[in-house]
Amino acid sequence: MSAALLFWIPAALRLIFLLLGAAVFGFFFGLVSGLIAALVLLISQLGVQLSYLYQLNAWLDEPNSAKLPDGWGAWTDVFSRLYRTRRMDEKNQTELTEWLARFRQAMHLLPDGVVIMDDVLFLEWCNPAAEKHLGLTLERDEGMRVTNLVRSPDFMDYIILGRYEQPLTLSFKDRKLIVQIIPFESRRQILVTHDATDSDRIDMMRRDFIANASHELRTPLTVINGFLEIALGQGKLEPQTRTAHLKLMAEQGQRMQNLVEDMLTLSRLESIDYPMRSEHVKVQVLLESILREANALSGGRHTVTLEIDGPNIKGSMEELRSAFGNLVSNAVRYTNDGGCIRIGWRMAASGPQFFVQDTGIGILPENIVRLTERFYRVDKSRSRETQGTGLGLAIVKHVLLRHGATLSIESAPNSGSTFTVQFSSGSVCEPDALPTAK
Ligand SMILES: Nc1ncnc2c1ncn2[C@@H]1O[C@H](COP(=O)(O)OP(=O)(O)OP(=O)(O)O)[C@@H](O)[C@H]1O
Ligand SMILES: [Mg+2]
Repeated sequence: MSAALLFWIPAALRLIFLLLGAAVFGFFFGLVSGLIAALVLLISQLGVQLSYLYQLNAWLDEPNSAKLPDGWGAWTDVFSRLYRTRRMDEKNQTELTEWLARFRQAMHLLPDGVVIMDDVLFLEWCNPAAEKHLGLTLERDEGMRVTNLVRSPDFMDYIILGRYEQPLTLSFKDRKLIVQIIPFESRRQILVTHDATDSDRIDMMRRDFIANASHELRTPLTVINGFLEIALGQGKLEPQTRTAHLKLMAEQGQRMQNLVEDMLTLSRLESIDYPMRSEHVKVQVLLESILREANALSGGRHTVTLEIDGPNIKGSMEELRSAFGNLVSNAVRYTNDGGCIRIGWRMAASGPQFFVQDTGIGILPENIVRLTERFYRVDKSRSRETQGTGLGLAIVKHVLLRHGATLSIESAPNSGSTFTVQFSSGSVCEPDALPTAK
């Protein structure tokens, strides 16, 4: 049944009943009384309608679904439909507000900058990342022209050329930004900014690493190839020369192997897929084996001592062996014959400490800051003599990073160096807290 019929039929029926009532009244009490009764009933009907009209009017001033009257007659249907529409509106509005809040939060968390501008580049809105990248402040700069705020000739050229399908790489306030304008709606544009400073630095480090690694590998390979060419070209060699050549080739082969092993260790330590296996490290066992290695490397040329006065720690035995071993082998290799090396483990106020003190060649202050860089060696020729790859301290740095420990270096040329590894108090291991490292 149509809505019109649903409205008119009950209304007509109500009117008919009303008139019938008045007619019955007139039949019993006379025509005049019947007419008066009909008039009174019609006026009361009119009063009811006007009263609901008034209530509807008042409700429209403050349309809250909870305050909607129930109604009577046709008004019941009107009010219930209004109630449904109002509830739907309220639901939509809540959903919309929630979406807006979620959108705002997402925009706040976005690492990329988003700037909304009108068709003539006046700033309408931007997120915190855009404020950081472009040095904007939304409150202060809203309504200003973006080209007046981002003062860069490259950015101006980009706007003038209008080739927005290509992003622009922009050097802006010590940062490297990738920016792109995306037109949207008919009179709005979005400026998206991405901070590429870190990825650029990582790319450069990667390029340097590959260049250094190839350079380091090229030297021993050249030596080996040279000797092989001599052997092939001259046919039979003197047994003495042959032995000397083979010895040098073996040394260079060993050097390449050390280099590749160190590079693999470094890449493994850097990999997030290689989590640290934490175990109970018995420091005494570890340091005694490192002392034996140091004495073997020194071959009696140095006095190496060990003192232990500290607790056991949580960590990876294998990684700590590699880090401590590197520091101790450096002390042996960079200390002249007759020098002393002190290896120690103690409990300091801020936590356990490992230290290696030598009376070696020492390091200049300007070189100390660069020691943990990959392939950095103060004296390349000396390091090469001792088969150094320059990756040792880079490995130490990564191992310590994984253990939440820090490295400090004190050194003075010709009087020796002290390398100290500081662990946090939290790394102390209670007996039986973890399985013991083998
Ligand atoms: N105890 C030390 N005394 C003096 N110089 C040191 C000492 N330890 C390190 N160095 C300097 O720091 C440089 C970097 O050390 P690192 O351990 O990273 O490389 P390496 O010893 O040359 O090679 P690797 O350890 O990879 O075999 C060394 O080449 C050396 O010049
Ligand atoms: Mg080393």
